Amino acid sequence: MSKVRIAFTLNGKRVETLAESRELLIHVIREQLGQTGSHIGCDTSHCGACTVDMNGKSVKACTVLAVQAEGAEIITVEGLSVNGQLHPVQEGFLQEHGLQCGFCTPGMLMRAYRFLQENQNPTEAEIRIGMAGNLCRCTGYQNIIKAVQYAAKKLQSGARG
Ligand code: FES
Ligand code: FES
Repeated sequence: MSKVRIAFTLNGKRVETLAESRELLIHVIREQLGQTGSHIGCDTSHCGACTVDMNGKSVKACTVLAVQAEGAEIITVEGLSVNGQLHPVQEGFLQEHGLQCGFCTPGMLMRAYRFLQENQNPTEAEIRIGMAGNLCRCTGYQNIIKAVQYAAKKLQSGARG
């Protein structure tokens, strides 16, 4: 099958690659561009392990065709920390023990990152709804909620968003 050239911004850098028209964004990000932080948990749009930020929205990268990323601005978990300084959502997961096996964590972080820009002062119920598309098979949800609350407070205090 012939390949299509696509170019987009990935974690602040312009990247160019070739993809088949039916190829999924998650495969291109992981296998061609070497950003393996985004995981594949189900490949059916259920688990959220593949969540990335695309043009200011959380998307499940197993549900997006790579060619749809043409010209897009994409952030993966690799793009969250800056100069070795963790983003408040990463710090929250660390401080509140929001990860167990860690497989769901990159997707959780990316969803929390966007959710806290959509809602800067969420209630616990809003956090639960906002994170509902991301599954943790260890069922460590309580600490994940606390981690998002930690990050919300930190961001409200003026930390980098
Ligand atoms: S791998 Fe994309 S939602 Fe599960
Ligand atoms: S920490 Fe293991 S799946 Fe979430």
